[in-house]
Amino acid sequence: MRKIPEGVIALAPMAGYSDFAFRAVCRLWGADLVYSEMTAAKFLLAGGDIPKDSPVVQLFGSDPQELAEAARLVESSAMWVNFNAACPVRKVMKKGAGAALLGDLRRLRIIVRRMKSVLQKPLSVKIRLGLEKNVVEKIISVLLEEGVDLVELHPRTARQLYSGKVDRKVFAYIKERFPVALYASGDVFTPHDVRELFEVYGVDGVLIARGAVGFPWIFRSSKLYMKEGRVYSPGVDEMLETIELHLRLLKSSKGPRAAAIFRKFISGYTRGMRNARKYRLMMMREGSVEGLIKLFREFMLAHACRAQYRELYVGGGYEDGKENKSAGCKTGARWT
Ligand SMILES: Cc1cc2nc3c(=O)[nH]c(=O)nc-3n(C[C@H](O)[C@H](O)[C@H](O)COP(=O)(O)O)c2cc1C
Repeated sequence: MRKIPEGVIALAPMAGYSDFAFRAVCRLWGADLVYSEMTAAKFLLAGGDIPKDSPVVQLFGSDPQELAEAARLVESSAMWVNFNAACPVRKVMKKGAGAALLGDLRRLRIIVRRMKSVLQKPLSVKIRLGLEKNVVEKIISVLLEEGVDLVELHPRTARQLYSGKVDRKVFAYIKERFPVALYASGDVFTPHDVRELFEVYGVDGVLIARGAVGFPWIFRSSKLYMKEGRVYSPGVDEMLETIELHLRLLKSSKGPRAAAIFRKFISGYTRGMRNARKYRLMMMREGSVEGLIKLFREFMLAHACRAQYRELYVGGGYEDGKENKSAGCKTGARWT
């Protein structure tokens, strides 16, 4: 098993979100690592763009030979290669890829073996608990037998999609029974969640997905919380700078589609803020990056004092939540 960094807080792979622009924003806010969106092996072999800035490139597919060739293509620009055996989306599973492989461990084994045989750099595999029932021990045994260097686990079955709540005890259970480097994924929304995963459940890394959307400061905040027990609350200026940077990077990488792509971040960047609903509607209709920047400035300078709702409520009945309520929030007041 090759050496994988420990204590890592990373941006999880998210199709449609963890693109070049959002990866850069999250790194700026302290993400130790960023995963690329899942990339089809076939797409890369047909000459598709390799994500060059992404320390961890995620591949998906079902053909062992294609995956091995694609892995070779991406490894020089990656810290390691990640294979997706976790995606429960029907379109992906129908082709025998993503979480479908958790119901076909023979194929999963062959794929992993082929990929390992060509790679100099580490190979990690992102999994769920199983297809319909929990067979995670069997899956991990197969992966370890094939020399996989790291497992990223989202402990729900594919059938569960996102329902229910992740049972974190499974991480500790696996760490006790298997000599495996394990990164946790699933329901990580607060710095308290991050700390608990490291300190109580003993994982080697934590992936944040939905919790980082419109909330990239969660990375810095989590680190500060683990070190000093307090969270980081960005000021309005910092939030505006971040949003502007995100938009400009999208514009430079995606061109005229930038404003449309950014729409899925609007609710995250404005959540918990007064008058958000009215502004969100305007932002959703705005077709230009410059127009969005203007709207965000106007909105945030007037209404952003509640912006830190989630940072202050870091989970686990965190006491600063009370502070937020008593701090009051007058229109026009700035959060410092
Ligand atoms: C919109 C969206 C896209 C996702 N795309 C991917 C993907 O491309 N590859 C992958 O392995 N997981 C993907 N995931 C799963 C996440 O990486 C993560 O495991 C899951 O969302 C649970 O973490 P969370 O509760 O922090 O969101 C995606 C999740 C979401 C919400």
